[in-house]
Amino acid sequence: MLLDVVLWVAFASNWAFGQTEAITSDLTYVAAVYEHRVILNPDPHIPLSRLDALQHMRKNLAVFEEQADLAARQGAQIIVFPEDGLHGFNFSRSSISGYLETIPDPEKEKWNPCTESEKFNNTEVQQQLSCMARRHNLYVVANMGDVQPCPLQTDPTSSCPTDGRWQFNTNVVFRSDGLLVARYHKQNLYFEDAFDTPPQPEIISFETTFAGRFGLITCFDILFYEPKVTLLEMGVRQLIFPTAWMNQLPLLDTIQFQRAFSLGSHVTLLAANIRSDRLIMTGSGIYTPFAATYHHAQSGDPEEGRLLVARIPVLGVATEYGQVQRIAADLSYCHHDDCPSDPTPSSTITSTMMHDPFKFVLLANTEGNLKVCDGAFCCRLQFKRSPKSNSDELYALGAFAGTHTVNGRYAVQVCAVVRCAGPEASSCGQEIEEAETTFDFVLEGEFGTNYVYPSVLVSRYILEQPERVEKSTGGWVTMKHSNTEGGLVTACLYGRVYHLDNK
Ligand SMILES: *[C@@H]1O[C@H](CO)[C@@H](O)[C@H](O)[C@H]1NC(C)=O
Ligand SMILES: *[C@@H]1O[C@H](CO)[C@@H](O)[C@H](O)[C@H]1NC(C)=O
Repeated sequence: MLLDVVLWVAFASNWAFGQTEAITSDLTYVAAVYEHRVILNPDPHIPLSRLDALQHMRKNLAVFEEQADLAARQGAQIIVFPEDGLHGFNFSRSSISGYLETIPDPEKEKWNPCTESEKFNNTEVQQQLSCMARRHNLYVVANMGDVQPCPLQTDPTSSCPTDGRWQFNTNVVFRSDGLLVARYHKQNLYFEDAFDTPPQPEIISFETTFAGRFGLITCFDILFYEPKVTLLEMGVRQLIFPTAWMNQLPLLDTIQFQRAFSLGSHVTLLAANIRSDRLIMTGSGIYTPFAATYHHAQSGDPEEGRLLVARIPVLGVATEYGQVQRIAADLSYCHHDDCPSDPTPSSTITSTMMHDPFKFVLLANTEGNLKVCDGAFCCRLQFKRSPKSNSDELYALGAFAGTHTVNGRYAVQVCAVVRCAGPEASSCGQEIEEAETTFDFVLEGEFGTNYVYPSVLVSRYILEQPERVEKSTGGWVTMKHSNTEGGLVTACLYGRVYHLDNK
């Protein structure tokens, strides 16, 4: 059946990938991200003197310096370093104190730490980052700890912590002449005893001469409304994302979600992660809506840093953001509820995926047309697959609508095709990195949110760009992809239902 309905695009100028967007300018720039094997403090629970903390951070700064130099030699105009890349992890509120500096608010005060080092005491890290930017003539984005005194108040409604200071997980941005141009305090903390949530979400962006505006978010922020969606609603289309992300297949591997977010929001994402085998951290990249340059270490790879540099287009202000646009579609597959169901619908099982009870149906033959619902939320799959001879890989189509509550609370609606980890249905939803079965598929769901993030991940952490992703009336989101180059691990439409987060 030929689909000839009008498709509605709710939050991007052109949500149908595989077509080229009229890029608003011909400008390009060179971006770099560095995946850093952070040199750790072996005992983060013991407080260090300022001198010892500085000595520790200088080891990481020396690596940053080297990489900024290498990036600059390849023409980079901006380099992004990961979250926690200077100090590491697992500090307490008091044991981190030697690592903290007071970072002045660049919206209130112009300061170039490299050329005006005497203006503030105890700012050695800012000075070194600022001089790094100046020396290599590029923007430097790094993550560090900020301490801000706040008035101790007896008023119990005051949000000032009882010890009289705020401690923030902070991204800082230095312009290529060393000027401090942005300071962002992370909003969505992830088990970080050392840091406070800022009293208000901070919506921070900065302007560059070479690529216009960039917005700042950090790690767990990528899953939440503030400040991310607010930045996008303001028209920011290039986001910087220092992270320290522990990978979790089948749905939230680093590169998988980085790619999904960039595609689903139609933005550029500059993502720099930590590299640590023990903490399952790897996966960084430079993602535009059109292409991705990324790195994901495989098990057995040496544990080392990785610099990525890419020339990418400047994305203009999304004046159409939040508006509705029509796109004609020409997909030849049956649509939504017009699809004939398989003659013998397989029975639904419940299996846990990423701590959530998904409803699954198994893929039975080499092609088919399946539907699975979790309550009123339904997902559909039309597929053809080509198993390698003597491979008996099991696949399932899963649906989940509800609030995820383990290690963070957030409402989701997810449609996913996954390779099950073993031959039993109960293994569907467990982690597996490899697969051999290639696919043609159309995956779709009827979502109760505009925020749906699509991705296709194949064997051994390789991303594929879906041929088309479309959004149509009634909340339907459709992802079509043919002839995967690798064996399919996960094809996913990850919907975030922000408005239900606090329900
Ligand atoms: C931090 O603490 C957690 C829980 O105690 C532990 O699993 C993790 O390995 C620690 N991380 C580091 C970097 O020591
Ligand atoms: C920095 O510290 C020194 C020594 O404690 C002090 O004399 C100076 O006034 C301080 N400078 C600033 C800008 O606070």
